[in-house]
Amino acid sequence: MQLKGIDKKTLEKIEDTGYTLESLALSTFEILVSQLKVDEEKAKKIIESAQNQLGIHPVTALKFLELEAMRGKVTTSSNELDGILGGGIWTQELTEVAGGFGSGKTQLCFQLCINVQLPKEEGGLGGNAFFIDTERTFSPRRIVEIASYRDLDVENVLKNIIVASAINTNHLFSIVDQLNEAIPENNIRLLVVDSFASHFRSEFIGKDRLVERQQKIMQIAEKLILLAVKHDIAIIVTNQIIANVEEFLFGSPEEPALGFAWAHRPQQRIFMRKSRGSSRIARLFDSSRMPEREALFYVNESGITDAPFPTDFHTE
Ligand code: GTP
Ligand code: MG
Repeated sequence: MQLKGIDKKTLEKIEDTGYTLESLALSTFEILVSQLKVDEEKAKKIIESAQNQLGIHPVTALKFLELEAMRGKVTTSSNELDGILGGGIWTQELTEVAGGFGSGKTQLCFQLCINVQLPKEEGGLGGNAFFIDTERTFSPRRIVEIASYRDLDVENVLKNIIVASAINTNHLFSIVDQLNEAIPENNIRLLVVDSFASHFRSEFIGKDRLVERQQKIMQIAEKLILLAVKHDIAIIVTNQIIANVEEFLFGSPEEPALGFAWAHRPQQRIFMRKSRGSSRIARLFDSSRMPEREALFYVNESGITDAPFPTDFHTE
């Protein structure tokens, strides 16, 4: 570990105690004083330095604007969808895509795994993708199909996507914990968790396990947001939907699963639904940056597009 302005002896002490950059940055000076046996001034300096290094330190709004302008975006392959998102899926934050069965969440994730590999001028980040699959729906054949339609080097596209199947929640945590090393080692610029909701919803059943479930969701959300900021990567997670009993809150008979605690974690939330034939409608409904708007796009043989595929006309 390297911390600007912190002497070697203290760094050794920090490492012996098992602290990571993240745990230092999110600690308090009282805890560091007692665990590292350093004085208050030094403890505060350690925290500040760790926060600086992770990019979670306070900055002026002007600086914030400059930093925001530099952030990368991955195109969705639909100009309309990119438009409502402010250019695509942004780095350094968490984007949630919620929607019902067959609404196109997984297809969008596949498309993004391909697009992140494109050079910046073509809407990519010139990097690789890491796909955490909890539902065993990752389809290399589908990647081949989409990449072929776009005249890309199919073998290379496949080589640049790492797939990890997460069997249960614990397994999901252990995969996420390995990402701090795996992301820089493999030049990962996009992380997909498809589906983020499924294990939490199937393992923690009943009211008496709700608190535990929400705690786990918050823990993993925090880990993901730190990874996004620290490594300057885009993260997309998919969520299921549930019937909305209090329709007035969300204004729709359905709402994303996982409840209120989760609802505030993603910086962008997209709700996707089926429309006619292969068309889909995405609504950006919770963004601090962009207004609530809808986009129409298509899911077809060639992946995500702005216009229907020629053969779609026969089925519509
Ligand atoms: P769940 O995971 O079940 O919640 O759904 P999802 O939102 O992930 O749906 P997914 O992205 O798997 O979208 C499924 C839909 O995409 C299908 O109903 C098809 O309309 C379309 N689709 C999937 N694969 C293909 C394909 O190979 N060709 C074409 N033309 N369409 C496809
Ligand atoms: Mg899916």
